[in-house]
Amino acid sequence: MSQANDHAPRPDRPPLGHPPEQVPHARPPTADVAIVRWSDCTSDCTDDDKAALAAQIDAIFFEASRTKTFASARERQRFRHRWLGLYEEQFAETFFVAIDGRTRLTGYLAGAFSDPLSDPRFAEQAIAPSFGAITARYPAHFHINVTAEARGRGVGSKLVAAFAHACRCAGLAGFHVVTAAQSRNVGFYRRCGLEELARAGKGAGATVLLVRRFGAR
Ligand SMILES: CC(C)(COP(=O)(O)OP(=O)(O)OC[C@H]1O[C@@H](n2cnc3c(N)ncnc32)[C@H](O)[C@@H]1OP(=O)(O)O)[C@@H](O)C(=O)NCCC(=O)NCCS
Repeated sequence: MSQANDHAPRPDRPPLGHPPEQVPHARPPTADVAIVRWSDCTSDCTDDDKAALAAQIDAIFFEASRTKTFASARERQRFRHRWLGLYEEQFAETFFVAIDGRTRLTGYLAGAFSDPLSDPRFAEQAIAPSFGAITARYPAHFHINVTAEARGRGVGSKLVAAFAHACRCAGLAGFHVVTAAQSRNVGFYRRCGLEELARAGKGAGATVLLVRRFGAR
């Protein structure tokens, strides 16, 4: 074909037969998921269903984690406990899962109402001490992950909305999240109504503290 064709203006519409999902920037449909407390899952499920769900949570956690290798099985277990197992075991009322169908899990939010800087159970998270004044006021916090296939379809925002509702029902003033300053998920948290209140560290190790405040400031 001629070079002129290569530089021809792109048609406004895709050619006939072009599948809609290949249209550039097409928005994927919102996922139809139920948001359920982990405590309800574990009390209502059979042991087999519970084990299947727990395995999916682990798979999502390790797939999304930036840490991929561990010095030993024990180190891997400690890492899992720090960011996931602790919440599953001790904060199941504020641990939410997104379920598509009966047992397919597309994401989870591991939340707690306790301050990670003053509650010794979170000591290994090593949050910047300078965040302490703010986390004391907004101690509720969470860690969230959605399967790669389900991202961008509203699952994450539904999980955050469920946690926000639980915080409001508990009479809390808001909640916070700590993440890497350079992380792409900062944009997601802003879309969920959180705002940056503090920053610590420099370069690739910098972290930000984002807070969602309810009502009057
Ligand atoms: C961050 C994450 C939880 C968001 O969940 P999600 O289901 O993909 O997000 P949603 O579809 O609910 O998106 C909600 C809004 O945030 C926006 N958004 C989502 N991810 C974003 C990102 N990385 N950067 C900027 N905006 C983002 C969406 O465009 C959407 O905006 P809209 O309302 O204008 O459409 C998910 O992408 C994920 O698990 N990422 C990898 C792991 C991770 O970063 N976890 C957090 C660790 S602190």
